[in-house]
Amino acid sequence: MLRVNGTDRPVTDAWIGESLLYVLRERLGLAGAKDGCSQGECGACNVQVDGRLVASCLVPAVTAAGSEVRTVEGLAQDGRPSDVQRALARCGAVQCGFCVPGMAMTVHDLLEGNPAPTELETRQALCGNLCRCSGYRGVVDAVQEVVAEREAHAAEDDADDEPATPRIPHQAGPGAGGVNPSAFGVTEPDGEPHDQPYGTDGGQA
Ligand code: FES
Ligand code: FES
Repeated sequence: MLRVNGTDRPVTDAWIGESLLYVLRERLGLAGAKDGCSQGECGACNVQVDGRLVASCLVPAVTAAGSEVRTVEGLAQDGRPSDVQRALARCGAVQCGFCVPGMAMTVHDLLEGNPAPTELETRQALCGNLCRCSGYRGVVDAVQEVVAEREAHAAEDDADDEPATPRIPHQAGPGAGGVNPSAFGVTEPDGEPHDQPYGTDGGQA
């Protein structure tokens, strides 16, 4: 049994040495992860296992039993490609598309650990993903676009949030009376006692 993208998927007839990539593609019909090299060099087969990016061609499927596997098929939200996938398409990172599922997994993994990577950090994260046609400029641009979008959404969400409950400097006492400051000898600037309870007179500090 493998847990993939939040669903338990029974695996039958597998040989104990089968790779996670093989089981995903050939036994479970999840063909998003690609078999580019079968030896951990190209990143086309990248998936997450328990939130960690792995080359699924190098992981024996049996070792992923009991773990949470996330593949490129699990990135869409409500049937819509993720923000990373949309940005990759927008920025011209997709030509033949063979490397893109692995790229998308790597970028999601990068942004989960580092929500605002520098270009150097992005390139370092992508160093295990080989692309033979589009180059990497589009991928780097896509990462920057996603970072900017997420920051903008976070700022909007903050603005929409109910203002935090203000700390109340004057609390009304029991009943409507509140605390009468004159009871503590507090006087107005004119020397008269302040005889209205704090919290009922417009906010004396
Ligand atoms: S197919 Fe796994 S790294 Fe290339
Ligand atoms: S788009 Fe073709 S290998 Fe990357």
